[in-house]
Amino acid sequence: MILSGGEGTRLRPITHTSAKQLVPVANKPILFYGLEALRDAGIRDIGIIVGDTEAEIKAAVGDGSAWGVEVTYIRQEAPLGLAHAVLTAEPFLSRCPFVMYLGDNLIREGISSFVEEFRCKDVEALILLAHVEEPQRFGVAELEGNRIVRLVEKPKEPPSDLALVGAYMFRPSILEASRSIKPSWRNELEITDAIQRLIDEGKRVEAHVINGWWKDTGRLEDLLEANRMILEGIVPGCEGSVDRESRIDGRVIIEEGAEIVRSVLRGPAVVGRGSRVIDSFVGPFTSIYYDVTLERSEIEHSIVLENSHISDIPGRIEDSLIGKNVEISRSRSRPSTFRFVLGDNSRVGLV
Ligand code: G1P
Repeated sequence: MILSGGEGTRLRPITHTSAKQLVPVANKPILFYGLEALRDAGIRDIGIIVGDTEAEIKAAVGDGSAWGVEVTYIRQEAPLGLAHAVLTAEPFLSRCPFVMYLGDNLIREGISSFVEEFRCKDVEALILLAHVEEPQRFGVAELEGNRIVRLVEKPKEPPSDLALVGAYMFRPSILEASRSIKPSWRNELEITDAIQRLIDEGKRVEAHVINGWWKDTGRLEDLLEANRMILEGIVPGCEGSVDRESRIDGRVIIEEGAEIVRSVLRGPAVVGRGSRVIDSFVGPFTSIYYDVTLERSEIEHSIVLENSHISDIPGRIEDSLIGKNVEISRSRSRPSTFRFVLGDNSRVGLV
């Protein structure tokens, strides 16, 4: 199952109107990386847990045939925690072993080898861990060898720097464990507590520490970092048009129908289908989604969503996430003032 509910509070205002799992990283919705990871691990039946953004997720993923998988949508009435999501999916899970993948997580190496390991091992659960700098933001594990002795959700004083990565392998026993726990301080049924319950009952829970990078893209800085990491690995290509007065440096993908006019693009970067870059600079680690217009402006280390228009910006835009249908331009009329129409929880940094 893939979890694609949640409110995405840390990515507002983008998530006031859109699912955080559909924000594109290197021009591909985050959720699609998860679907590919499950598919590549040989999983064909995928239940997607959805909440208020159900319609949008359904429109993007459909029946799963684009990935060669069969998708079932499971509605979670409220985001009451990961263990609550497991309980909500009980009929779908039909007492089979399963993978739970958090739809806003990106795991570079995929999960195929872990799924394989789980298939061969007589363990009740297999969890993935990664060394992180701020363990207090995650579920944290204390290990003896590769056996887990304790798991704590968002501890003030973390017992280690090993965070729980958002991909878990379970057997049906996690259902009983999820039923027997109480909501946490954030009023969620925490999967961390349910796994701890398995451990307390003497069941075998093993951990695998991942080597490659992993990102929970819940915050802007993580999203930009994920974008950076994926762009690092792109294969350049051009299906659009680049005029003679433009220059492309480094690895850049120019998607179908995109137009580059009198501009400099410095990779790694991607310009989405139908987008137009005119008299502008697109710097490293920038992903411009589809049907965007960038005119007489400079941008780098940013993500721009579809249909936005950016023109005549005097300074370089950096470290930014710009939503759909956004317009950023210079005010031409007098008085010469800043004029904003910003959604709730927007953040603007002026020079
Ligand atoms: C959830 C889990 C946490 C885990 C994290 C990974 O946190 O509760 O244990 O480390 O995902 O992304 P949340 O995103 O709900 O804060």
